[in-house]
Amino acid sequence: MKKIAFIGAGKMAEAILKRLLKSGWTAAHEVVVTDVADERLRHMGDEYKVEVSRSNPQAVVEAESVLLAVKPQQLEEVLREVATSLRQGQVVISIAMGKTTQFIQDLLPSGTEVVRAMPNHPAMVGEAVSVLSYGSHAGERARAIAREIFSCLGEVHEVEERLQDAAMALSGCGPAYFYVIAEAMSDAGVKLGLGRDLSLKLAAGTMLGAGKMLQETGMHPGSLKDMVASPGGSTIMALEALEEAGIRDAFYKALTAAWKRAQEV
Ligand SMILES: NC(=O)c1ccc[n+]([C@@H]2O[C@H](COP(=O)([O-])OP(=O)(O)OC[C@H]3O[C@@H](n4cnc5c(N)ncnc54)[C@H](OP(=O)(O)O)[C@@H]3O)[C@@H](O)[C@H]2O)c1
Repeated sequence: MKKIAFIGAGKMAEAILKRLLKSGWTAAHEVVVTDVADERLRHMGDEYKVEVSRSNPQAVVEAESVLLAVKPQQLEEVLREVATSLRQGQVVISIAMGKTTQFIQDLLPSGTEVVRAMPNHPAMVGEAVSVLSYGSHAGERARAIAREIFSCLGEVHEVEERLQDAAMALSGCGPAYFYVIAEAMSDAGVKLGLGRDLSLKLAAGTMLGAGKMLQETGMHPGSLKDMVASPGGSTIMALEALEEAGIRDAFYKALTAAWKRAQEV
């Protein structure tokens, strides 16, 4: 019997597997991973010493929990394929963007315990923010297992399912927004004469530090901003330039575009 089966061995599955092994939540011999690509299976087997398989139904039969980590467009096919192999007591966790617990439940045997989760890319370094919602049959044990799994990746929050797409637009896609900001800041630093490496280190370290200030002080970002923007100083000049460039409007538009996209899949 395996503790967990990963269906789909892409980027997110690998990030989650890595953290589950590192945290000791599971051991390599308790994991089975499937994919359609032999190259991915070879990589997962070689790198993490887990069992690999091309058979989704067989992997599911063997596992206490099933983590669906395929693209949203591939989810329906996978659910139809594994439906008859599931049994009572197994927990089915999906990280597919936009796919509701109702959609998943409808394709699985009645009473299946389903959890929908949206982790994010920093799962790779144990600094994810994940949001969980539960299907109508998910009992306390299923919820606890999901919380345990995603706690190995970082912070966990529970949300009403109707807010999942909004959370996805913010924290699911959010790392990409910050990667672009870090790149843009470091480009601007290079323009002003800083070396590329130093410029990137300053951007990343500043981002991390600002995030920790928000978390550890519990202060509103506006108050923290006021603390560093002295009258007539450089920071307020820079902030004026950011406002003129439409930084706030850009984020309203970006999150709304991501949210709309989730409704389409
Ligand atoms: N990337 C993120 O930051 C992020 C964050 C939160 C949630 N998610 C969600 O996580 C899921 C996976 O995303 P990802 O970025 O890890 O995608 P990915 O790298 O494309 O991984 C999906 C893997 O599943 C394989 N696959 C396709 N059909 C399959 C099948 N029938 N059975 C088994 N495996 C199959 C794919 O193979 P092929 O490539 O050959 O099709 C691919 O290797 C998505 O639903 C996404 O919405 C992603």
